[in-house]
Amino acid sequence: MERERWATRIGLILAMAGNAVGLGNFLRFPVQAAENGGGAFMVPYIVSLLLIGIPLMWVEWAIGRYGGSKGHGTTPAIFGLLWKNNLSKVVGVFGLWIPLVVIIYYLYIESWTLGFAIKFLLGLVPSVPANGTDPDTYLKPFREFLTAYVGTGEDIISPSLYAYGVFLITALINVWILSKGVSGGIERFAKIAMPTLFLLAVILVVRVFLIETEHGTALEGLNFLWKPDLSKLTDPGVWIAASGQIFFTLSLGFGAIITYASYIRRNQDITLSGLTAASLNETAEVVLGGSLAIPAAVAFFGVANAVAIAKSGAFNLGFISLPAIFANMPAGTFLGFLWFFLLFFAGLTSSLALMQPLIAFFEDEFGLSRKHSVLITAGIVFFSAHLVIFLNRSLDEMDFWAGTIGVVFFGLLELVIFMWLFGGSRAWEEINRGGIIKVPRFYYYIMRYITPLFLIILLGAWAFEYVPKVLSETHWTVWVTRFYIGGLFLFLTLLVFVAERRKPKEVVCE
Ligand code: TRP
Repeated sequence: MERERWATRIGLILAMAGNAVGLGNFLRFPVQAAENGGGAFMVPYIVSLLLIGIPLMWVEWAIGRYGGSKGHGTTPAIFGLLWKNNLSKVVGVFGLWIPLVVIIYYLYIESWTLGFAIKFLLGLVPSVPANGTDPDTYLKPFREFLTAYVGTGEDIISPSLYAYGVFLITALINVWILSKGVSGGIERFAKIAMPTLFLLAVILVVRVFLIETEHGTALEGLNFLWKPDLSKLTDPGVWIAASGQIFFTLSLGFGAIITYASYIRRNQDITLSGLTAASLNETAEVVLGGSLAIPAAVAFFGVANAVAIAKSGAFNLGFISLPAIFANMPAGTFLGFLWFFLLFFAGLTSSLALMQPLIAFFEDEFGLSRKHSVLITAGIVFFSAHLVIFLNRSLDEMDFWAGTIGVVFFGLLELVIFMWLFGGSRAWEEINRGGIIKVPRFYYYIMRYITPLFLIILLGAWAFEYVPKVLSETHWTVWVTRFYIGGLFLFLTLLVFVAERRKPKEVVCE
């Protein structure tokens, strides 16, 4: 069966940008920046972008396009082509496991944005005390609003029925688009969603820039974000956070870019297209994402309070503070609706990308139809999501293993397998074949030496900082989550071996 292909270059770029531009750009980036000192964060952020983000992005596009030309879109098979060793299949399982674990919680958060968008559109939201100055009392109604939605509980969480229903709908929307295929579903949707998303973001940024209170203006927020603080360059924690954000926002080390790239034609450009997609993501992140939640919170409450809000919880800037600030303006609930709708589109184009690896795996390696592959994948995700919905700390635990440490580890594996085991000059040729621009030669050395070294140091720093914390964890909900995601890894490994056994035909025709 002929593998699917992207229909147009612009469609490919928008789908890839949709892959990368997600909740991370508008929710995670501002929180990371605020927690790590604003301008202090941006220096390691930009260094990480140049030394990890851009090179790894080209490598993933090249690995994916190479695999696709041989009929494979996921890493268990592709690593096997690049590195003829049985171990390659097992390490390749990470490229299925990471996106699977991440989509389990990502899809749930995405569903909140839809749930909130609907409530704001219908005006079913609390009102705020006019011109409150103390953030605690000002934000209280919106904090309670979020709590009522997702629920609370020490170990077991009880979400609202509404939240559960909207989650189901969100899953179905994903299934619906994915079942129409790569070009007919993902690409077509990206062509609508990405321009819409940029337009919504620009409208909201303009509105935020007009905020002026007795505490300040949005410009002071920008100033906080963009005044570089070089003294922070020696703080390893800031480097870990910044490089982690680069991985997350560019979707690197997740296997998802590789799968999307496997639908690119063998001789079609990846150098310029990859750079363009990454640039769109960075624009959405530092220009648009950086001009919304933080500047608004700084203008309203001052720098110190804005930072405190960011630190009080990962979702508090985006789900509490920003909608509460909008609610105080004329047409405030409609602005809130635009904000959550923007997030929903950002999340949706990313969740499609997170599901696609496992779908491609069932199609490529088991020969299943697209419909069946989509349904099986969505079924596994939906079932697993109950852990995140009902068990406290489960979401954070999954994010830690798969979305934080796992990606750095997997990114390093990709570089070693492609730039070393497959071979530096072959890899370099793969990257540049059909390229509209030629990647500057010094990036060859960056990809072979600097990025891997950078990642090894990061992993060492992680281990040093976090292993003791991880091992001392005693909450049963955390352990249940760890066993569950560990079980998923074994399950995927088993599938890879089953797929392997039903395949000798293909080797012949190579
Ligand atoms: N980049 C996405 C964001 O910024 C999140 C994400 C991480 C992702 N890894 C991914 C999306 C893999 C798709 C595929 O929100």
